[in-house]
Amino acid sequence: MLSLSRFAARGLALRSSRALHAASQPLNSVTEQDLAHFAKILPPSSILSTLPPSSVASEELHLYNSDWMGKYRGTSTTVLKPKTTEQVSEIVKWCNERRIGIVPQGGNTGLVGGSVPVGDEVILSLANMSKVRSFDSVSGILVADAGCILQSLTDYIAPHNHIMPIDLGAKGSCQIGGNVATNAGGLRLLRYGSLHGTVLGLEVVLPDGTILDQLTTLRKDNTGYDLKQLFIGAEGTLGIITGVSILTPPAPQASNNVILALPSFKNVLPLYEIVKRQLSEILSAFEYIDRTSYDLAVKHGQGRALSEEDVEGAECFVLVETSGGKREHDEEKLNNLLEFLLEADEPLINTGVLSQNPAQFSSLWALREGVTEAVSKEGKPYKYDISVPLSSFQDVVDGTREHLKSKGLYGDHAVKYVVGYGHVGDGNLHLNVVANSYTPEIQAALEPYVYEVVASHRGSISAEHGVGAMKTHALKYSKSDVSIAWMKKIKQIFDPRGIMNPGKVLPE
Ligand code: FAD
Ligand code: MLT
Ligand code: ZN
Repeated sequence: MLSLSRFAARGLALRSSRALHAASQPLNSVTEQDLAHFAKILPPSSILSTLPPSSVASEELHLYNSDWMGKYRGTSTTVLKPKTTEQVSEIVKWCNERRIGIVPQGGNTGLVGGSVPVGDEVILSLANMSKVRSFDSVSGILVADAGCILQSLTDYIAPHNHIMPIDLGAKGSCQIGGNVATNAGGLRLLRYGSLHGTVLGLEVVLPDGTILDQLTTLRKDNTGYDLKQLFIGAEGTLGIITGVSILTPPAPQASNNVILALPSFKNVLPLYEIVKRQLSEILSAFEYIDRTSYDLAVKHGQGRALSEEDVEGAECFVLVETSGGKREHDEEKLNNLLEFLLEADEPLINTGVLSQNPAQFSSLWALREGVTEAVSKEGKPYKYDISVPLSSFQDVVDGTREHLKSKGLYGDHAVKYVVGYGHVGDGNLHLNVVANSYTPEIQAALEPYVYEVVASHRGSISAEHGVGAMKTHALKYSKSDVSIAWMKKIKQIFDPRGIMNPGKVLPE
């Protein structure tokens, strides 16, 4: 490496009050009779249940009942793994009639407890729905089953010189359906925008089992309400996504990255302005990690450490990526930028480390992408993914640390680290509080504290991970009563019996 989201009026009212009544009743548990019905829809290998006749040991369901962080745990007895949209529809129809809750589960990499049951709902895993349906290498439009793993889609389209418009650290496990259901952001949002723009169509099984086929491959379609948008970011509360049509961009001809070591967080914003101006159309990522995040990434073997000289005096780091059409042109721009930054009278950076080959390119990215895994290896992370003004990122991190100190909760006995990293280019800070264990005291100190801080900045309590089970009670910090009331009406229309991912997104 080189250093440098017309009935008669009376009839409707009656129907909805009955439905409201239904939704407030407890959901039913799966019984042996239900299992016998599921066995008419699915082969035995696609049913995992602790109930007879499947009778698997409850440990076999552990992975499905627990989230990635080990913070949320359900008590589901039954995991169903359909292969086709019709099978999904049959299962959902039955669960709706019987009022059995369903949790759609993709790669189970979600970070807000949305993908695991709050009780004993059925887990409907999309893992067996993993076929690419079509790819048009001229338009770049990919149509795939929702259970396709993001990395496998990347690999599928690579020979056609296309890339997925979304990339994230969990790409080896997360599924495209899960990405859409969470409206995941990730590392390429700055360049390619959000899934609300790149998803062209969806196939969705609605909570009554109806198949809503909106799997269009049209770039332009202004025929009425754009229903698919409702399912993007709905976290499985409005239906089960079974197919996705998505626009994939052409692969850049040249990609470069450089990690910049900064003496102070104060330099990040002026640096961002300069980088945007100088790199303009080739800038594809501007990612931030504070010093502690960097140290934890290195400690836990994520990427290759920079030299001691390069990290000396660095309070934080910024990873800049360029993606363009011509290597020489991009390299020249990047070198000019580095020269400009280093030769300034009052340099904003201490050093810049430029990758020289694909291995170094990946290694620099691993330092940033690996922070998530590093904080999980270090302890139990309380994860807040918030949108606040860029100028407040560091104040939020420092303020949270001070707040925990004032409560006597900072130190080896409780919270070990408060770190900040994230997508500066998207105004999205990941505030992680790394504790020895999840405790009610730390929880009470952090919430509503963090949400109040976010609200004071008119920010968002979820920039990209969603609401899940974690933030239902906190939705009010980012959404008005009117917005929440309309979200509840929408939920009521789609899912009057309240079976679809209960306990997620909307407050009781
Ligand atoms: P799951 O975790 O299985 O489910 C997530 C939610 O979507 C749940 O509510 C679930 O019920 C619902 N769901 C899943 N599949 C469907 C479906 N087919 N139909 C309807 N609902 C469904 N997130 C980001 O936004 N940006 C990042 O950069 C990022 N980086 C990450 C890095 C790591 C290491 C990890 C562990 C997670 C990261 N995440 C990130 C969070 C997570 O990976 C994303 O939210 C991802 O999109 C979830 O996909 P999944 O298939 O694992 O979904
Ligand atoms: C990231 O940007 O790394 C992801 O959103 C995951 C995380 O917040 O740790
Ligand atoms: Zn993120």
